[in-house]
Amino acid sequence: MSRKQIQTFQRMLLKWYALNGRDLPWRRTKDPYHILVSEIMLHQTQVDRVVPKYHEFLEAYPTFEALAAAPKKEVKQLWRPLGYNFRPGRLQQIAKLVVKKYNGRLPNTLEELMALRGIGRYTAGAILSFAYHKDAPILDTNVRRVLQRYFQIQGDPMREPAKKQLWHLAERVIPPGQAYTMNQALLDFGATVCTARKPSCQECPLNRNCPYPRKSSKD
Ligand code: ADE
Repeated sequence: MSRKQIQTFQRMLLKWYALNGRDLPWRRTKDPYHILVSEIMLHQTQVDRVVPKYHEFLEAYPTFEALAAAPKKEVKQLWRPLGYNFRPGRLQQIAKLVVKKYNGRLPNTLEELMALRGIGRYTAGAILSFAYHKDAPILDTNVRRVLQRYFQIQGDPMREPAKKQLWHLAERVIPPGQAYTMNQALLDFGATVCTARKPSCQECPLNRNCPYPRKSSKD
């Protein structure tokens, strides 16, 4: 990938996000706990379903301390409609550990975050960039697809060598100091324009430089 290709991608995507980025509740907070709750809820679950639960959950458990002290059954009950019901238990375990080991403050290094069960590299990157404004990359299904299509990364994205190439790219596409915006932009762009099925290639602002576009979005 040339520097110029990367720069064009950055410029176009940030411009698109400035005009089209979604106003989501977890983008209105700086609280690492709130951001963690949103990210765990967003694993495998659509934004529209997460928004009301996010508010309900934080009203019931506004802090790590409140969540750590809550009855496990009650937390699970509140979470239930979101599915993947191992998640509230994991989140509560994290809350307990953060209270006990870190004085109620979520760590801000990749190593410490990834040592917490339930936090993988994606979630750690999301916390670092969204809560602590560090230049950390993220890679989820949406981001992978955008990068694979635009930069023509071949092969199974979950396996080497593509996996490593994609993490490297996810890092390179972040303009210094702008991980927050770039990562949110990648997530929104993958969820609304560069979708898995029927992507909006014809209206896509990156289509002039992207090898992926098809003649028709129906292809
Ligand atoms: N999916 C995972 N994290 C997200 C975020 N911060 N915004 C939108 N969709 C997401």
